[in-house]
Formats: sequence, C-alpha cells, structure tokens
Amino acid sequence: MLKTLSIANYRSLLNLTIPLGRLNVITGANGSGKSNLYRALRLLAETAQGGVINALAREGGLNSTFWAGPETLSRSMQMGDVPIQGTVRQKRVRLKLGFTAEHLGYAISLGLPKPSPSAFSLDPEIKRETIWAGDFYRPASALVDREAAVVKVRDKRQWQVISQHLSTFDSLFSQIADPKHSPEILDLRETIRNWRFYDHFRTDADAPARQPQLGTRTPVMHHDGRDIAAAIQTIREIGDHHALDEAVSDAFPGASLRVISHEDGRFSLEFSQHGLLRPLSGAELSDGTLRYILWIAALLTPRPPPLMVLNEPETSLHPDLLPALARLIIRASENTQVWVVSHASRLISALNESPECHAIELEKEFGQTRVKGLGMLDEPAWHWPDKQ
Ligand SMILES: Nc1ncnc2c1ncn2[C@@H]1O[C@H](COP(=O)(O)OP(=O)(O)O)[C@@H](O)[C@H]1O
Ligand SMILES: [Mg+2]
Repeated sequence: MLKTLSIANYRSLLNLTIPLGRLNVITGANGSGKSNLYRALRLLAETAQGGVINALAREGGLNSTFWAGPETLSRSMQMGDVPIQGTVRQKRVRLKLGFTAEHLGYAISLGLPKPSPSAFSLDPEIKRETIWAGDFYRPASALVDREAAVVKVRDKRQWQVISQHLSTFDSLFSQIADPKHSPEILDLRETIRNWRFYDHFRTDADAPARQPQLGTRTPVMHHDGRDIAAAIQTIREIGDHHALDEAVSDAFPGASLRVISHEDGRFSLEFSQHGLLRPLSGAELSDGTLRYILWIAALLTPRPPPLMVLNEPETSLHPDLLPALARLIIRASENTQVWVVSHASRLISALNESPECHAIELEKEFGQTRVKGLGMLDEPAWHWPDKQ
C-alpha cells in the first residue's frame, strides 16, 4: 500500500507531498490539478515499465511539464506588492516523483541533458533514482542509489557498484534484475508494474466492448474494456459471483447479466431488464449501462492489484447510478488500495460514507496545487535524494 506520494516541479505541482489511505478520493475545482496528479502517478508507473522518457515526450517534452511559475515566490510577490516574476535560478530544474510503500521508498529525478549534437538532445535524462527503507529518505536508509550511469547497492556498511553503464534513458527497474544483491529493486518493480489504471472506457457504437470477442479466462480486464464478457464470466466462475449479482441489482433492480459463449469461442453479454421481452446484447446497451457493467468487471477483479486508479469514473454515468458505483468502489477497497479522481458530488459524498475514505481536496494558490487543509504539521516527512 502506498503511504506517501511526493511530486516536485511537475506542471502545477511545484511541491506536493500527500499522505494516502486505503480509499483515496481526489477532488477539487476545475484547474486545481487533479489530472496533473493523476498523470504524475502514471509517469511513476511508467518508470517500472521502461516508458517514462517516452511518456514525457508524448506530453510535449520535459520542458513543457516543468512548473511554469517562478522558482521562489517572495513575500512581496505573495502580498501583491510586486508582480510575480522569475528570479535567477539557484538550482537546476528537475522533475521529481517519489513514493513510499509499506517498507520501501523510491524516488526518481529527471532533467535535461547537456547540449550535444545528438538528434535526441531534447530527450530527458534520468539523473538520480534511489530506493530506501522506511517512511522517508535519509542517506543512512538508502539501499540502492543510481546517479547518472552508476548504480550502487548497499551491502551492509559498504556501497557496492553493480553497474557503471546504465543509459540515461533507462530506469534501473528495466536494467537491473539481480535478486541476490538488490531484491528491493525487483520487489518495487513488481509492485509498480501491478498498479492498474482505468481511465476512459470506450462505449461508442464501434467500441470493442460492444462486440462479441474471443474469450479466455480474464482475471484482469483490459483498460479499454474490450474483454468485458470474458472478464464477467471469469468473475462468475472464480470470483465473487454474489457481489456481481448484487452490483447489477443495486443499480438496476430486477435486472440480470449473463454471458453467452458462442460456438466459435466468442463471448458476448446479455442483459435482461425488467419490462423488456427479450434481453439486450452488448451492442444495444445504453452508454451508461455498459459503462457501469465495465466498472463492475474492473472492480470485482478476482486478481486485485496493489493499487487501482480510477480517473473520473462518473463519466457518462447517470447521477442515479453513482451511489451504487460508490458502493462497488468501497467494496473493492477492501482488497486493493484505491485512488479515485472525481468531481461528481454524488459519487464523492457516497464514497465519504466509508470510514476508510480519505478525501484529498486540491486547490490552487498562486498557480500551485496544494491540498486543502493540509498544514505543515500534517504533511508527511519527505526528503528528496536529489538536492538539485
Ligand atoms: N507547466 C505548468 N506549470 C504550471 N502550471 C501548469 C503547467 N501546466 C499546466 N498547469 C496548470 O494546471 C492546471 C490544470 O490542471 P488539471 O490537473 O488539468 O486540473 P483539473 O483539476 O481540472 O484536472 C491549469 O490550470 C494550468 O494552469
Ligand atoms: Mg481534469
């Protein structure tokens, strides 16, 4: 379970350290930084898949993701006595992302390369990656430390260099896999790789979720929902089938959901509703109904991940379905840590019914995202290994 997440210099997140619980609900006005926070978490996940440099390029390059405000905001700027203006930079610009999980922490910092004739001279570089034991980084608790091309691992009191040739575009997760000298790298890599993100399901007329699909056992539904029928059938056979039926009738009293397996090996959905003479197929379902069924398949997964991240799950759901969706999310949070980004008040208030619900309301002040009501004292301790 993630205990703390920290981000520096990423878009409106100049410096944000947030404590996390089992069920986290990120809310806030438009432009407060909810999506930025979601994207920062995705970037962290990309480090373990070897895709962080590419992901940054897709966002328009590292330079455009850096905090666009001044390095420091003087008191007179805050009071409005002088206009907000840039100051002479004291430090290099680095994008930093980090978290602590149960026993281990990880941080990465990315920066721009020195000018070079390479055609890739705008590619960001990984400057530092550190793994430590405990709740926050201290030099004495570091277990693995990578600086540019060199990776060191602590061996009792000594540091041992285990690689001197790491490329600046490779994370240590993608290059080092040595269970004997650095089990924590593998441990964290597996954790991060299993984080599961659900962003926007496709429910348009041509959406794969509406078509019959070849089905094999599917404990983890694809992020676009293409294998929904197989995922539902897998829950029926090896998952919590009572919860499945309950979730359907919670939202649609009297309705039932079946999966038909065709002779050619394809699977499709069949949804029977009160008042209709025949069941509807996946292709005939309304957007909202299909989307709710997609959420059932995602949330009742028989193989819960360590962390499940749901970005605006309310999208195209009728507000009346939101309390049932909240109950489904709360149930999922018993088996997995959940992170919900939402601005639907009915969903948020229904999630708040759970005693586990940890509401994080974001606000923007002088262009910076902050957590509302989180004072200096409530902020978890955090130190970046990279002091730049
Ligand atoms: N590089 C940047 N530096 C500072 N602020 C930025 C940067 N890029 C985007 N922003 C700010 O982030 C805000 C958008 O945040 P976003 O996470 O999309 O909000 P929402 O809470 O609506 O999802 C915009 O208001 C914009 O001012
Ligand atoms: Mg947004």
